[in-house]
Amino acid sequence: MASKTSSNAIKIEFATLKKAPMEDTCVVLSGSDFSLSNVGREFDEKTGGLLEKSAKAADFIGKAKSSMEILAPRGLDIKRLLVVGAGHYEETSENDWTYLGGAIMGLLANRKIKSACLVAELPGTTSISADELAAVLAFGVQLRHYKFKKYVTRSSSNDDNGDEKDKLDGLKKLVVHCHSPAKAQAIFESYKAIAEGVHVARDLVNEPANILDPVEFAQRAKALESLGVDVEILGDKELEKLKMGALLCVGQGSARPSRVAVMRWNGAKSKKEKPIAFVGKGVVFDTGGISIKPSAGMGDMKGDMGGAACVVGLMHALAARKAKVNVVGLIGCVENMPSSSAVRPGDIVTSMSGQTIEVLNTDAEGRLVLADVLWYAQEKYQPKLVIDLATLTGAIMIALGKEFAGMFSNDDALVAGFQKASDVTGEKLWRMPLDKAFDKAINTPNADVKNLGGRWAGSCTAAQFLKRFIKDGTSWAHLDVAGTAMDAPSTAISPSWGSGWGVRLLNQFINDEYER
Ligand code: BES
Ligand code: MN
Ligand code: ZN
Repeated sequence: MASKTSSNAIKIEFATLKKAPMEDTCVVLSGSDFSLSNVGREFDEKTGGLLEKSAKAADFIGKAKSSMEILAPRGLDIKRLLVVGAGHYEETSENDWTYLGGAIMGLLANRKIKSACLVAELPGTTSISADELAAVLAFGVQLRHYKFKKYVTRSSSNDDNGDEKDKLDGLKKLVVHCHSPAKAQAIFESYKAIAEGVHVARDLVNEPANILDPVEFAQRAKALESLGVDVEILGDKELEKLKMGALLCVGQGSARPSRVAVMRWNGAKSKKEKPIAFVGKGVVFDTGGISIKPSAGMGDMKGDMGGAACVVGLMHALAARKAKVNVVGLIGCVENMPSSSAVRPGDIVTSMSGQTIEVLNTDAEGRLVLADVLWYAQEKYQPKLVIDLATLTGAIMIALGKEFAGMFSNDDALVAGFQKASDVTGEKLWRMPLDKAFDKAINTPNADVKNLGGRWAGSCTAAQFLKRFIKDGTSWAHLDVAGTAMDAPSTAISPSWGSGWGVRLLNQFINDEYER
């Protein structure tokens, strides 16, 4: 694995149903109306009908994600049996199974269980194959199995109201009992790569900015070389030579220099095939600069590199599962600080494209970074299409809240492809408008464009600004992930502040559109 993730390693193995149970804690599934699989019925018989009786006593009917716990079941050589509801599983989608796996991991984590087995079997047929079921449940377990505790050193003995240190160790081992272990294992390999990518993205977003400066961020991207990704880092001299005046002006107030990292994965049959480009906003900390932000909640701005983190996580996933596609990921890593060398409101800078930009608010810095990295991506790689991800505007949260990312695109087919992928992974998107009308808001008499669009439709005028840096004929989408990449509501598969949002979505999109 390229980057060590914060999730304590978990070993997931697959074994036959006959061997169940192999660990002290065992999880079995129940359908609606309390229906047990073969293994479940066998357990019930061995215990003299204990499962059936307990279900009656607890009013457990197998509703999706409900659960029932039986301790020290007589007749079974285990300490604990967890029966988890799978509900009406005949119609359950792949993503629902992933979430169920996450919920199971949650139950195990709450009980501080170190090793367990899970019987991936149901009485009837599911919409996915038995082996896929096992792999997808394991995927959910692995996604949920994440903690960012690398800086917590305090132990339970000197902490009255907590057991932070105890919580560090999660589940160490899970044996998934299934129809054919070898097949499940083979299917799981890809899922495992994706989960690792999600964890890489979460780690980067959670990492504080004193540790993750632009140089360190680029270095983390460089670590992908161990997976066979080509990584090039553009330093100060290169960025100046490339005339990235928009990106560089954002970082000029920081003592820590800017970087652009370029990650290439060429997995397609023809290495010469034009790549798909992913561009990420990597503002390691956004104080707002001279247009400084209010102090409340400013700590969250360590996550202003969520777009770039997603790109790195995606590259990890694609390389780790050896995706048959050519992609290039580019991240613009900068820090936005106020200082005597910082860019001022009113300054006019020249972007790599040659267009001049009047910087009227130094807190609208993300679009400045993207302007140059988008341009560079197109100039250098002539990509088939360009996707950018950015925690770009607070306004996107006003419009869509924290469950949907805003999507802006000049290509209807691309939007359709993304909607399809989004339906599979459950990472929700909502299309927002690009329109000539928004151009008026970003025109200025003093330069070619200004970085501020006025009071209304802040996310749309930001997107319209980016569009100025997309060449005619380039298919492009911009995802505003300010609401979803960080501080998003925790779910059955994500307990983390940095969510890793988008890694699964982009991976799914690539798999659907380019690997079939
Ligand atoms: N990084 C912020 C956007 C943001 C805000 C992300 C809150 C996540 C949570 C971005 O750089 C920014 O400051 N945008 C300004 C733009 C404005 C000055 C035009 C905003 O949204 O207020
Ligand atoms: Mn800002
Ligand atoms: Zn920002």
